Amino acid sequence: MASHSWLMLDHESPRYRLPDDLRARDPMGGRDCGWVEQMLPFVRQFSQPGDTVFDPFAGFGTTLLAARLEGRLASGCEVDAGRIDLIRERLARHALAQGTTLLHGSCDALDDTAFPPFDLCLTNVPYFGCGWTGAPVASQLYDSQSYAQHLDGLRSVFHRARAGLREGGACIAMVQNIRLGDRVLPLAFDLARILGSLFIMEEERVLIYPHESNDTSTDGRTDRRHEYALVFRKQRERIDLQATAELLDALRAQGHTFTLLGSFARWLKDPQGTPPADADICVDADPQRLDALLQWLRGQGFALTSWGDPVSIPLHLGSYRGRYYFRADHIDASGALVRLDICYEQ
Ligand SMILES: C[S@@+](CC[C@H](N)C(=O)[O-])C[C@H]1O[C@@H](n2cnc3c(N)ncnc32)[C@H](O)[C@@H]1O
Repeated sequence: MASHSWLMLDHESPRYRLPDDLRARDPMGGRDCGWVEQMLPFVRQFSQPGDTVFDPFAGFGTTLLAARLEGRLASGCEVDAGRIDLIRERLARHALAQGTTLLHGSCDALDDTAFPPFDLCLTNVPYFGCGWTGAPVASQLYDSQSYAQHLDGLRSVFHRARAGLREGGACIAMVQNIRLGDRVLPLAFDLARILGSLFIMEEERVLIYPHESNDTSTDGRTDRRHEYALVFRKQRERIDLQATAELLDALRAQGHTFTLLGSFARWLKDPQGTPPADADICVDADPQRLDALLQWLRGQGFALTSWGDPVSIPLHLGSYRGRYYFRADHIDASGALVRLDICYEQ
């Protein structure tokens, strides 16, 4: 596994499969239930015995079961009460319920003390447009009314998961692009962009599943021929410190006014200290001046984003209220990064 960027899954072991009677209890008949075999190699490679593995979309408990089978502690959140019961029952049948923390709700609605810190976040995300027939719950992402709302919900959950993940821990999300009618939605790639705004991307792996040769189904939603495992890490970004300092000088020379804050300001005073992961500047929330600043950065080849979403200019500042900052990234042809976070709200 460690030496391959793909994992061929040829069959699901009847021993670990979601039992038929539990599957029958589910309003969706266990649709989108993952395989324990799919999770095991990731549990083994990205955590140690005794570590805690967290699944923010626990579903039928497949990740939790894989974690417990490998001697890890497991914790998970699930919004659907019926599936919480189902997970309990499934783990109990394997005599692995102990060592598992199960929380009913969306992790972004739970406070810091609700679940223990964890070493690995490993999950299969809920799919948009799957026609959820279970209980209607506000935070049920299966029930998102638009694709944009779905992506916002995913972002919010992974943002919360980031807070619970230990420094250096991996966050791995399994996901495929989806077909809705005659439209393909790049869910896997949009999720990668969202995760990239929260974590550092390490790699992607492709999971390949068997299919009958006479299977002519064209419904991509339920046709899991392959999916991606997006592997990210919670770690500090490495930036080009010299080029970042030069950028700040250039901004001043251009007449842009700002206050330098945080770790970059500290590092300039003490270059032996921890290297900063970005330069934080604070500016007045003046739309014209902000627009001029962002225009200039765009002209210098910076990508401008707000919480992972591209920012368009001229700026409609009102639509970014409550998001606090813009991010400007410049990556040169050698891979060196200059990162500026522009705070416009306290
Ligand atoms: C793809 S399934 C996970 C299946 C799981 N990996 C398994 O094989 O057992 C996604 C699950 O996320 C749950 N869900 C949707 N929105 C959620 C949220 N905001 N917080 C927690 N769970 C959520 C759904 O109810 C569903 O059970």
